[in-house]
Parts: sequence; structure tokens; C-alpha cells
Amino acid sequence: MNLTAEQIQENWKEFRNRINQLTARADDLNVMYDEIEERAMMAPASSFDHYHNAFPGGYIDHVLRVDECAEKVYFLWTEMGADMEGYSLDELRFVALHHDLGKLGFPGDGNEIYIPNESEWHRKNLGKIYTPNPKNPFSMVPDLTIWLLQHYGIKMTWNEMLGLKLTDGLYDESTKPYFISRTADSKLKTNLGYIMHQADCMAARIEFEKWYKNKPAAPIQKKRPAKIITNSQTQVNASKMFEDLFGDKQ
Ligand SMILES: [Fe+2]
Repeated sequence: MNLTAEQIQENWKEFRNRINQLTARADDLNVMYDEIEERAMMAPASSFDHYHNAFPGGYIDHVLRVDECAEKVYFLWTEMGADMEGYSLDELRFVALHHDLGKLGFPGDGNEIYIPNESEWHRKNLGKIYTPNPKNPFSMVPDLTIWLLQHYGIKMTWNEMLGLKLTDGLYDESTKPYFISRTADSKLKTNLGYIMHQADCMAARIEFEKWYKNKPAAPIQKKRPAKIITNSQTQVNASKMFEDLFGDKQ
């Protein structure tokens, strides 16, 4: 699946509108997004076609969907009687709109996280559309997300910092101490992390389903010759070697 140039532009416009709704930090955020505009607008959300949104504009398309899912999940939890004290909807939306910021890479030209994969074989046969940029140091997305926000001088609350860290849920093992606690007091004080994880799962799954329903037919795989050598084959090869060396059959 690919977006048209018009859809990419529309998504970008909508994204900037939503950033402007985060009034308290809109100015600081706009400085960052003005600087990284082209990269953010065109970035994919992942590297493999069967992950999610691995196409130009896929990042913003994903983030907008997560923002919508997060709001709906928030109201679902509210309706079902969850305790929604301890954080604001504004904090949740800040996390939703920035939870994957680290996927945009390090500041500076040419420091994107995902770069187009030049190997046609890998693109066609493995669906590896993008490849990690070897220039960058290894980083976990939530860590780079939080680092980037501080790099651009954007303040965040503890709720927001933790929400950014917990969005991957237990897929990210570093979140274990937060999700698996041994005492009532050490449990998470708010459900923001759970809501973000559910919203991100929902959006990514929807994006996978959209791709899967419209994916091109799989290329016909050429069978590679089996490299298994049976005892009889070994015998044949040994006979051939003997013949080549001594000019006579064993
Ligand atoms: Fe995400």
C-alpha cells in the first residue's frame, strides 16, 4: 500500500493541526517539526512491508491513527468504569503523537533511522523495503524519542515520559518492572501506559490488515538445490573422485 502525494500532504497538515492543539508546548514543538518537516512527512513507520506502514508517509499516517485510537480507548476505559484520575487527555495525546518520534532518527542530514533498501532481492523476496541506517548508533525507539524531545528543549511530565516508554508494552523487556510489580504501591499509578499500548497495537494491526488484504501476489520462489548428501550420494561422489584421480572405477 502506498499513499498519494496529496494524501501525504493532507496527513501532514492534519498532524500539524493536532500539534497546535497541544497549546502549552505548540511553539517548541513547531520549531522541531519545522526543522525535520520533510523527513517526518516522508518517513515510513517500519522497515518490512508486513510489519506496518512501510511506505513513504507511513509514519505520520500511523501516528494520526494511534492518536485517534488512544482517544477512543480512553473513552472506552472511562465508560467501563476505570479510574481516569492522575493524568489528562492532553498528556495522553502528547504521548500518542510522539510515541514513535525516535523512528525519525538523529538530528542532522542523512541520519534517518530507515533508509531505502537498495537490494531489489530483499525488497521483492523478503519485503524489506527499508534498512537500518548504519551511520546511526543502535537505539531503542522509546529511548531516542525521549532523547530527541529533550534535545529540542520540549518539556514533558513524568506521566508523558513513562507513557512514551511503556507504549510497546511487554514487547519491550525494559518495561517489565513497570508492568509486573510485586506490591500494590509499586503498580503503575495511572492507566495511561495500558491505553497507549492498546492504541498502538490496534493501529499497527489495522495497518497490517490493510496491507495484507491488498498485498501483491508472492513471487514464485526458485527452489535452491538441496545440500543434503545422502550416504549413496557420498558414495557416488567418492567414486567420481577416485575415477578423476586414478582413471579407474573403484
Ligand atoms: Fe507506534
